[in-house]
Amino acid sequence: MIFILTGAGISQESGIDTFRDKGGLWRKVRVEDVATPAGFRRDAAKVHRFYNQRRKELTSSRRVPNAAHLALAELALTLDRGEVFLVTQNVDDLHERAGSPEVCHLHGSLLSALCLNCGRRSDWKGDMDRSSSCPKCAQKGGLRPDVVWFGERPFHFDLVYEMLSRCSLFVSIGTSGAVYPAAGLVGGAKASGAKTLEINVVPTGREKLFDEGLYGPATEMVPLWTEKLIKNK
Ligand code: OAD
Repeated sequence: MIFILTGAGISQESGIDTFRDKGGLWRKVRVEDVATPAGFRRDAAKVHRFYNQRRKELTSSRRVPNAAHLALAELALTLDRGEVFLVTQNVDDLHERAGSPEVCHLHGSLLSALCLNCGRRSDWKGDMDRSSSCPKCAQKGGLRPDVVWFGERPFHFDLVYEMLSRCSLFVSIGTSGAVYPAAGLVGGAKASGAKTLEINVVPTGREKLFDEGLYGPATEMVPLWTEKLIKNK
């Protein structure tokens, strides 16, 4: 089974900002202000504005899946069911729109709202603010973006570790490996005997952890890799 972990770099050529590259999001805003529970308690309006802007960009007609998202979807649909496990740190929905049959979102989704009053989730496409009502319980003021902030536990980790122990190949695509626990997955895969591959526009300095590297834009490198696998199927 192939375990694929994607990060912001896979969506960069779809026009979505990464976090730590030149011009990345974390060079424009403070993480503590917009991506921590304490920041939300301090200034919820600011946090909502930040995610509203990102949600607006994601839902604009210019943001579409690119050749890398499409290649991963084709791979999953071509290999036997269950042969590809796709995990993303991204909060966009470009893997789903490309046609990937199953996507595990470690850091949540921009297009989902979580109600702090009733604990339920709802699809959410428009703006959110402190007066928004929860579609499930109708209470106002309890909605937050359904994304994982620093200091919070990423979603689906039990499933992720189970799949990690079963994979024979681990592929990291477009992620700097700066944020744990996702950054530790490659080490876990290696420890359980899987081969490891990094696909990135540049080496991330973690070469010791990867058996192989493919370096160049995701829209070129990912299709190059998947086409080879599909041909050898
Ligand atoms: P980063 O911004 O840390 O890293 C993006 C990676 O993508 C870098 O290694 C780039 O070299 C690479 N990259 C950029 N453009 C690329 C391209 N066209 N093709 C291939 N690679 C490219 O983003 P992530 O690693 O995804 O979490 O960040 C991980 C987490 O940190 C995010 O999920 C987010 C952030 O804080 C939370 O907010 C909880």
